[in-house]
Amino acid sequence: MPYTHADGSAIKSFLPTERAIGITVLDTVNSTNTYAKGLQDSALPMLVLAREQTLGRGRFDRRFDSARDGGLYMSLCFCPEGSPTPAMITAAAGVAVCLAIERLTDTLPKIKWVNDVYIGERKVAGILAEGSFDGCGRLCRAVVGIGVNTRSRVFPEPLRAVATSIEDATGFAVDINRLCTEITEAFFSLLCDKAKTMRLYQELSLVIGRAITVITMGGTEDAVAEDIDGEGNLIIRNEAGEIKTVCTGEISIRLKPEAKRD
Ligand code: BTN
Repeated sequence: MPYTHADGSAIKSFLPTERAIGITVLDTVNSTNTYAKGLQDSALPMLVLAREQTLGRGRFDRRFDSARDGGLYMSLCFCPEGSPTPAMITAAAGVAVCLAIERLTDTLPKIKWVNDVYIGERKVAGILAEGSFDGCGRLCRAVVGIGVNTRSRVFPEPLRAVATSIEDATGFAVDINRLCTEITEAFFSLLCDKAKTMRLYQELSLVIGRAITVITMGGTEDAVAEDIDGEGNLIIRNEAGEIKTVCTGEISIRLKPEAKRD
């Protein structure tokens, strides 16, 4: 299949006719999330894509490498119904990316809590969910940014050892516009079904049962990931045997001692 690049009419043609969504495709932009956050409030959900990002953003202010036509860089901007929690939105996005990739490649990725999508032991996609809240603390506007490395390429350091693309990991050169459509449809469908989303979020976890290091505002702790609860929190057992619930933060997976290299 020839390589594709983001194209609004192709996406429209793949979406079901009842999907009411505005689509903006930019050639280049600093960040589709930043652009989407600057859009006027509207009842209609918006999908913003770009062929490249000059300042693609990840969690914790990290950069997301967004080489031209090297991946899918998309942001969904919408006013959530039914007050979903940010954790639920994050889980729905992660599961949607996994299901979409599976549909197009027959490979089912896994999710490294909170929301990095992995094929094997390498990251293929990342998600950055941002939102604004009303006076009662309810999420009134969400921007969910999704970056998927699709095309085979040499990643810059220090990503080289940890990143992959769908093409490198599965051999499939996926159609970016179809991938975008599959993610969008799966995401909005999962958002209406919390039980299903959280079950899949748990089933697709890359980390349950593994030795991890948890990095939170409170510090760093070695632990084993025991489970993910129905709210998307990570349940850990630390080295003192205490069970703890981690709501936010970051984890790294610890390699087995024999696999460690100097
Ligand atoms: C992460 O890996 O921490 C999250 C990466 C999220 C990247 C996507 S690409 C589209 C959207 N625009 C951004 O600037 N970031 C997200």
